[in-house]
Amino acid sequence: MDDQVPGVAGVVVLAAGAGTRMKSRTSKLLHQIAGRSLLSYAIHAAEFLDPERLVVVVGHEREQIEAHLADIAPQVTVAVQEQQNGTGDAVRAGLEHLADVEGEIVVTYGDVPLLTGETLAALVAAHRTHSDAVTVLSTVLDDPSGYGRIVRDADGGQVAAIVEQKDATPQQAAITEINAGIYVFDAATLRAGLASLTSNNAQGELYLTDVITFARERGRDVHAMILEDRWQAEGVNDRIQLSRLGREQNRRLLEKWMRAGVTILDPETTWVHDTVDLAPDVTLLPGTHLEGATSVATGATIGPDTTLIDVEVREDATIVRTHGSLAIIGAGASVGPFAYLRPGTELGDRGKIGTFVETKNAMIGEGAKVPHLTYAGDVEIGPDANIGAGTIFANYDGVTKSRSVVGKASFVGSNSVIMAPVEIADGAYVGAGSAITDPVGPGELAVARARQRNIAGWVAARRAGTKTFTAAREASEGTPEQ
Ligand code: UD1
Ligand code: CA
Repeated sequence: MDDQVPGVAGVVVLAAGAGTRMKSRTSKLLHQIAGRSLLSYAIHAAEFLDPERLVVVVGHEREQIEAHLADIAPQVTVAVQEQQNGTGDAVRAGLEHLADVEGEIVVTYGDVPLLTGETLAALVAAHRTHSDAVTVLSTVLDDPSGYGRIVRDADGGQVAAIVEQKDATPQQAAITEINAGIYVFDAATLRAGLASLTSNNAQGELYLTDVITFARERGRDVHAMILEDRWQAEGVNDRIQLSRLGREQNRRLLEKWMRAGVTILDPETTWVHDTVDLAPDVTLLPGTHLEGATSVATGATIGPDTTLIDVEVREDATIVRTHGSLAIIGAGASVGPFAYLRPGTELGDRGKIGTFVETKNAMIGEGAKVPHLTYAGDVEIGPDANIGAGTIFANYDGVTKSRSVVGKASFVGSNSVIMAPVEIADGAYVGAGSAITDPVGPGELAVARARQRNIAGWVAARRAGTKTFTAAREASEGTPEQ
């Protein structure tokens, strides 16, 4: 294959079909595998060819698709096919935006997500080598049903015609080489061929594939490039295929990461979006799901059973059985088991967010620890501070949310409630079980709870005859020395 990525004149992505079998209110092309829409894979592969013009032909659910395109690929030209009269009609609609274009026009589908830019580039290279009018991507399937069959010349060389299943003779139907529906056309041949199409076939549609016969009848060459990797030709029509291709794409991504130095204990239960970035010497334990813009730096270990969405994990951090989104975890920090990191969580280097801790808009400084059973919402916790078990940062008074601050190396005793807004200074202590409403200064100990008082004889007076009463009497009589 040419190392030089070819610059082609145009790419037309067909995306006007209905996708009825998905049974979805969402357009088929917006369904995702590995965190990206089917359509975005098609655009990505097309862009690998560096086309002068990239046209997407839309029809069904076009508002949804246009909105999505405006979001992910505002540079593409949208063409509208009003009625879905077949692939030939769809390409005609696309060509209206490529009227003055000469050279190579590539046609692909919006619902074939595993097709790569490299495969398209190889197809363009083959097109150039043969000086073809049309170059077709084909593949050989055990079960070719539903696909157009590649009918070759008697000597097996060029493509004589593509025959749809519904138009095929029994001999043609037995052919196992099928049309993937991906082509490189010479623009002039395509334009003339499309102008000549008729719907004189079993489906009453305009078949793009008839352009091949048109070219051959005019003495032009048509070759097929056989794709060994059949997955790349597979389209998504229903949710079974969506899941099948999603699993395969995940497998491919995980293999890429393992080759790049990531340890993945159980690829069967590990799911990593296409948008995630992993460094060498990251370890992913079973049941790990990494999504969106998540990145994991070298030496970090994630899992088991952890989902991170848009989380940045720095070097050597450890995250165990955690659900997190829009958070940053510092180098050497540890999280979990059973932590819930909500947006705006930032844990400093060597910090700790421990067991059954929920955080939100929480800046937790270097070396600070929130080890057990805490809600830390809207809070700034200084470096080396220690937040005792069961501390609640009460950030919401039922009307507004407020922030609290705990200073550097301060210590909050267990089971305290810190009622925002309130500030605990650097180097301060809060006694266990306190309800803090007022500021605590540097070096102070704040104790905000009723003082303990012991009422002698209460059990005898109020609980006589119970086991407690007996135990109390035995305790006060004393047990003989052993
Ligand atoms: C087409 C090919 C067939 C090939 C198969 C590969 C023709 C006549 N047949 O089959 O040889 O094996 O693809 O999948 O081309 N589309 C439009 N507008 C239309 C019709 C289709 O945009 O009017 C789009 C669909 O959204 C889809 C693609 O074109 O992305 C293919 O359409 P589909 O109906 O699945 O293909 P077939 O015509 O059955
Ligand atoms: Ca199809």
